[in-house]
Amino acid sequence: MNILFVCLGNICRSPAAEAVFKSLAEKEITTHSFNIDSAGTSAYHAGERADSRMRKMAIKRFYNLTSRSRQFIYSDFKKFDYIIVMDNKNYKDVLSIDKENKYINKVKLITDFSKNYFNSDVPDPYYGGNEGFNEVLNILEESCQGLLEYLKSAYNLK
Ligand code: 4NP
Repeated sequence: MNILFVCLGNICRSPAAEAVFKSLAEKEITTHSFNIDSAGTSAYHAGERADSRMRKMAIKRFYNLTSRSRQFIYSDFKKFDYIIVMDNKNYKDVLSIDKENKYINKVKLITDFSKNYFNSDVPDPYYGGNEGFNEVLNILEESCQGLLEYLKSAYNLK
């Protein structure tokens, strides 16, 4: 199972989603392996580590953010089974490079797997304070749990 998390810069929300989902999947799924990655719709921060504020808030919850930012590219549509975006702008931007609409079914908003935050954007924390990063982690933890439950039942994963 190949899952790609996508946001704008690939330094705040999607690297955190990648780490949260990896941690959950490692705890709960023993018989299948996941290939988890993240990317940004922009190349603004390509090659950079996750934002230090995001890393600091994440490590308090025992998530170690190790990824380097890279831009989403067309071949990711083929490589990944699910492309999980953080907000509606990411959704539009990702699909704007799928001119033939071939991969639309692979692209999902992360909160579509959440009960408490259903269908809302994961707010961009980049220009705000620490509480924004904590809010991102709260939303991601609940949504990633929902995503994992969905995958477990859809693919009979154990
Ligand atoms: P992200 O946050 O999309 O969650 O990684 C952002 C990071 C950088 C910028 C915007 C959002 N930026 O404009 O540089």
